[in-house]
Amino acid sequence: MKVLLIGSGGREHALAWALSTSEKCEILYCAPGNAGIEDCAKCVDIAADDLDSLTRFAQEKAIDLVIVGPEAPLVAGLADKLKALNIAVFGPDAKAAQLEGSKGFMKDLCAKYDIPTAAYGRFADFDKARDFIEKQPGPVVVKADGLAAGKGVVICNNKQEAIEAARDMLSGNAFGSAGAEVIIEEFLDGEELSYFALADGKTLLPLNSAQDHKRAFDGDKGPNTGGMGAYSPAHLMTPALEQKILSRIIEPTLKAMEQENCPFTGVLFAGIMVVKGEPILLEYNTRFGDPECQTLMMRLQGDLLEILSAAADGKLSRITPSIGWSDKTALCVVMAANGYPGAYKKQTPIDGLKAANALDDIKIFHAGTAHGENGQYLSTGGRVLGITALGATVAEAQSKAYNAVDQIHWPEGFCRRDIGGRATQARKTG
Ligand code: AMP
Ligand code: GLY
Repeated sequence: MKVLLIGSGGREHALAWALSTSEKCEILYCAPGNAGIEDCAKCVDIAADDLDSLTRFAQEKAIDLVIVGPEAPLVAGLADKLKALNIAVFGPDAKAAQLEGSKGFMKDLCAKYDIPTAAYGRFADFDKARDFIEKQPGPVVVKADGLAAGKGVVICNNKQEAIEAARDMLSGNAFGSAGAEVIIEEFLDGEELSYFALADGKTLLPLNSAQDHKRAFDGDKGPNTGGMGAYSPAHLMTPALEQKILSRIIEPTLKAMEQENCPFTGVLFAGIMVVKGEPILLEYNTRFGDPECQTLMMRLQGDLLEILSAAADGKLSRITPSIGWSDKTALCVVMAANGYPGAYKKQTPIDGLKAANALDDIKIFHAGTAHGENGQYLSTGGRVLGITALGATVAEAQSKAYNAVDQIHWPEGFCRRDIGGRATQARKTG
């Protein structure tokens, strides 16, 4: 198969790494890719949001399957354009991608089909939003309806903060048109985990769980980021909890999407809050998580290309028995440029990657690198590397990952030192 992968982050490096080992993979292109991805794919200089050039490239190269990494091209309709040309694509069409692209769409679907999620209101009018906030009995979270690169959620300490957040979003100042509507929802107190499942429009194939670390600094302090590290499986996960997530949340969502005439194809990534042992849906993403994907790919046993291709072709039911997972824990530590998620320098040199990548049970996924001189790499983004380890326990994976981190010389970068800490702490105290 000729395969085109879209994206340029650590998630895409992990996908490219797994896809390139498939016997079915004749050639793998990645647009635009990064310096790490070049080791397992042919990078093409087309941006992930340049839908026309991507579609043209897929046609010219007679691509058999396009796999879309990030959400923006999905929400913008890349899958629709490809399907119109009879090119197979892994990822939802624009209508189904609204599960991520419009929080209001997702919440209304949950309300209509009785899927457990935080109580909410949806507003385009500031006065109505303020009245609703004033009537809420407890703390609230204010969310921009549209895509806001993970920044459109404000957890409010009091009503005044919530009113200001809603005002900011609705005025268009905070997130432009993504804030034209706001969701105001009940604050849920619990512990989060991420759950991933594949769908081909009708058949569901459960994947696995992970836990992300969204804040920039140790001890969950500092600003929210795209994710500073993850590990899989999540320590909260049990077979009983997984069953509840599937039967109360994922399965009804896929059925609802079929009934609404927008069957979902691709990967459904559920952000779940576990409150007193019960799963409640926080949000859906319609793509793999980054860096959760890096941990899933380390544990996946099976042919990723075969699996994703079956999902794209509506043939997941044929795959079901052949997917397996290592029972080890995978843990990914993100190294980011100093200053991230605020302003940071680019083009700073990184040494020691080769030695670190050669360590046992370690794989370094690049998220934002380019080639410099003499085999050196240069940083090109905020999140730059994902140092990913496999270990018999969370503690072992953690120790291997940080050992590899310590081989890397990058004075302009930083990482959290406590990835997986919630799991190792729970083990100690529990
Ligand atoms: P979202 O983009 O909707 O997942 O929100 C980003 C983060 O905000 C989540 O990962 C949670 O940590 C937090 N969050 C979102 N909604 C709620 C809620 N209703 N209660 C508590 N925390 C929330
Ligand atoms: N790590 C969270 C996300 O990919 O949305």
